[in-house]
Amino acid sequence: MTVRPHASLDPELLAAIVREQGTPTYVYDARILDAGVLRWIHAVGDPSHICYAVKANYNLGVLARLASHGIGFEASTVGEMARALAAGVPARRIVLGGVPKPPEAVTEGVRRGLDLVVLQAAHEVEAAVRAGDSLEGPPARVGLRVRPGIRAGAHPSLETGRADAKFGFGPSEIMDAWATLAGAKGVEPTTLAFHLGSGLDSLEPYAGAIDVLLGLVRELASAGHRVRELDLGGGLGVAYGESGADLEPADLVRIVRERLDGTDLAVRYEPGRSIAARAGTLVTRVLYRRERDGQPALVCDGGFTDFGRYSLYGAQHRIEPLEGPLEGPDTVEVLGPTCESGDKLGTDRPLHGVQPGDLLAVRDVGAYGFVMASNYNARPRPPEILVDDDGWKVVRERESLEDLWRGEAVG
Ligand code: LLP
Repeated sequence: MTVRPHASLDPELLAAIVREQGTPTYVYDARILDAGVLRWIHAVGDPSHICYAVKANYNLGVLARLASHGIGFEASTVGEMARALAAGVPARRIVLGGVPKPPEAVTEGVRRGLDLVVLQAAHEVEAAVRAGDSLEGPPARVGLRVRPGIRAGAHPSLETGRADAKFGFGPSEIMDAWATLAGAKGVEPTTLAFHLGSGLDSLEPYAGAIDVLLGLVRELASAGHRVRELDLGGGLGVAYGESGADLEPADLVRIVRERLDGTDLAVRYEPGRSIAARAGTLVTRVLYRRERDGQPALVCDGGFTDFGRYSLYGAQHRIEPLEGPLEGPDTVEVLGPTCESGDKLGTDRPLHGVQPGDLLAVRDVGAYGFVMASNYNARPRPPEILVDDDGWKVVRERESLEDLWRGEAVG
């Protein structure tokens, strides 16, 4: 299934939204979210094996729309878990993921009756065993995150499966951790997990990492332990630039099935970006033009506090004028308004004809956009709008000035 990413977030609609809501503003298209989920469901089959990574975009309106497809959710913190619950997702469809957690988070996950709690360090195993001891009812399903020692080829900040990563157990530590869980009364170890990294541009690393897990499955089996499920994390990259293709869930599923042929292992996926990125656009207004070292630059009312992916990873998202076509070969920098020279939305953008007052659409910001926004420079965070066939609605209001000091005291 091919998804035409921007078909419905058309310039006229975006301009109408910001006439009411001002700029900068995030706009999500629910139909593109649907298409993102359906691409995974077509590939995987059972929606409950797909656990959307809540961190990518956890607006309640977005979560509720995604939940309507019957998928599960991966939360990396108690806060993300609480958001999923607040959006109406039942605890049984939530995984507490294999990201570093304080013991209280593990305890909360075990007590809540989640689908799965993935543990990734010895202190988390201890916390799970302790929480299980005082559990009434069926044992809590738990898994172990493995650091398979695989380079995913992503931006260095987004690689998480390398031997030197801070996440998970090394393969040689799995046997002991599993045995501890298997010997405990209130937890039941079912799953080995990895997450190789985010924004991968090739599926090849998955094959090697699955082989590492399969080696562990055999090793555990020889000691009498049965692994029921592999959790392969997220990672599928999106081609943010003008060219290139997104990685396809169906191609990953093909690799996984080849690898797991002859086993009875269930498989869980935790996609974030590949579901939400294409659904989002950030609309910002050009405040003025400026020459920097002979290079024209546009200074906008949205910047790295609203959308940080260029400043953090050098990610070049498409930036298009809402009125008029892209013009000429000359390129400009697109800068934000804050007090730092590194505040940029992108560079080398073909926006030469754009004038002060014009609106720009920063595309494919539905994942890791608003969720990484900050209030630096005491800037209220932008509103979030959800568009569907019936029109559009505000699913998070623009923050007010009072929101900026909520909970603070003068003395
Ligand atoms: N599962 C786990 C355990 C994860 O840590 C992540 C992402 C995912 C699943 C979802 O991965 P995805 O399918 O979205 O690649 N802020 C960065 C992305 C950090 C992702 C961290 N973990 C960015 O803007 O690119």
